[in-house]
Amino acid sequence: MADRYQQLVTSPLGRQVADVLSLPVPEPLRRYEPGQSLVEGLALVGEAKGGRLLPAALAVLEDAGADVRRTVDGSENPYGALVFDASGIDDSSRLRELYEFFHAAIRKSGPSARLLVLAGATDEGDTRRRTAQRAIEGFTRSLGKELRQGSTCNLVRIAEGAEDRAASTLAFLLSAKSAFVAGQVVTLRAGDEPLAEVEDATRPHAGRVALVTGAAQGIGASMAAVLARDGAHVICADIPAQGESLARVANHVGGSTLHLDVTAPSAPQTLVDHLRERHSQGIDVVVHNAGITRDKTLAGMDDARWDSVLDVNLSSQERLDEALLEADLLRPHGRIIGVSSIGGIAGNRGQTNYGASKAGVIGRVESLADEMADRRATINAVAPGFIETAMTARMPIGVREAGRRMSSLGQGGRPVDVAEAVSWLADARSGAVNGQVVRVCGQSLLGA
Ligand SMILES: NC(=O)c1ccc[n+]([C@@H]2O[C@H](COP(=O)([O-])OP(=O)(O)OC[C@H]3O[C@@H](n4cnc5c(N)ncnc54)[C@H](O)[C@@H]3O)[C@@H](O)[C@H]2O)c1
Repeated sequence: MADRYQQLVTSPLGRQVADVLSLPVPEPLRRYEPGQSLVEGLALVGEAKGGRLLPAALAVLEDAGADVRRTVDGSENPYGALVFDASGIDDSSRLRELYEFFHAAIRKSGPSARLLVLAGATDEGDTRRRTAQRAIEGFTRSLGKELRQGSTCNLVRIAEGAEDRAASTLAFLLSAKSAFVAGQVVTLRAGDEPLAEVEDATRPHAGRVALVTGAAQGIGASMAAVLARDGAHVICADIPAQGESLARVANHVGGSTLHLDVTAPSAPQTLVDHLRERHSQGIDVVVHNAGITRDKTLAGMDDARWDSVLDVNLSSQERLDEALLEADLLRPHGRIIGVSSIGGIAGNRGQTNYGASKAGVIGRVESLADEMADRRATINAVAPGFIETAMTARMPIGVREAGRRMSSLGQGGRPVDVAEAVSWLADARSGAVNGQVVRVCGQSLLGA
């Protein structure tokens, strides 16, 4: 459902009023539906001379049956995707090639178009090359802020040697699944994790077991649904008091329930016992979604607010993961996914506890990535921005409206937007994505 403001300004009369007053008009976003084409309209591709990444993008587009063009033509059809391989740019003077590609085509992009720039890692090559490659980020983030009609612009940095591991990421960012992922930079690294193959691309998690904590409602319930849609058996975990809602979610997704207060001293052992009993082969995906807010400015903060937020949102994740790794229950191609927040990046008044906990989630991802790579597994986080849930519905109206509008897409995201990002990170083919924090925030100005 569109929010009220969005309903108003997208009505015929409301749109005229919005035009006169120069009000933002948040367009309905194209979201994923089964059977939908990857790209709506034409896909235009281009490259700077000397690039090495276009074949990876072409493979994904052609695999999906997209109508790919290499030059801007007079066709009436708008571009649903604009993809430029900038990895060949080795000097700042050549950034012009990036500008020229998008300048020529941008007016012909359609609604919810996907603009994707492919680049090299910023630690490869000489100083001039690294400077130019770093500059690309300022271009993509700025272009993303100019786009209208639900379009997004993201940058994928693909390290040398990771070219054949980019498909799941490119497909996600080109598709409607990434509706609320905007202005992001995702770096793919080369690694030793064997390349995973899936039999049915519409059910990439078939045969895999996933745990989602806090699955009884909101974003967690949506994660359970999307992971199950994509083939996983989902263990839906939440506190015992949420038993009824949890059972409903688990039934709906064909998964199982686990009554687990993640802060209970017994929680790590309970989880290990549950897996040994029911899933002795181990677990493939762990999503630490359970989270709470207990807002107060620091002067008014009491011990209970501080302790509970840090424990639910951060320390419990550490204890659960340590137990899983120690019991050797995380399978090859294992995926640990933390849920951070833009509050953990930008900070938020009244949220010293929450901000600390969510920044800590980022710290875990960054510091554990190498160990996870050694285990042929990954750890990443999603950092949601303003998502329409019970948590944000409780916000005072002014804060809520500001949260919705202060982003390039000018609207709140939906739980499914975070869930789609989680399913991409959970994919066995996403092994090159490790140690990354991906904001699902519609390019929110907060912490940008
Ligand atoms: N909604 C947003 O805009 C937003 C933005 C940024 C981050 N997030 C994060 O996304 C996650 C989900 O948020 P939501 O909006 O769906 O919240 P929500 O309050 O709707 O759901 C949170 C779930 O976690 C469960 N939970 C709480 N304490 C628990 C515990 N000790 N053990 C097990 N489960 C527990 C709750 O019972 C509930 O089902 C949270 O980590 C939140 O911080 C949300």
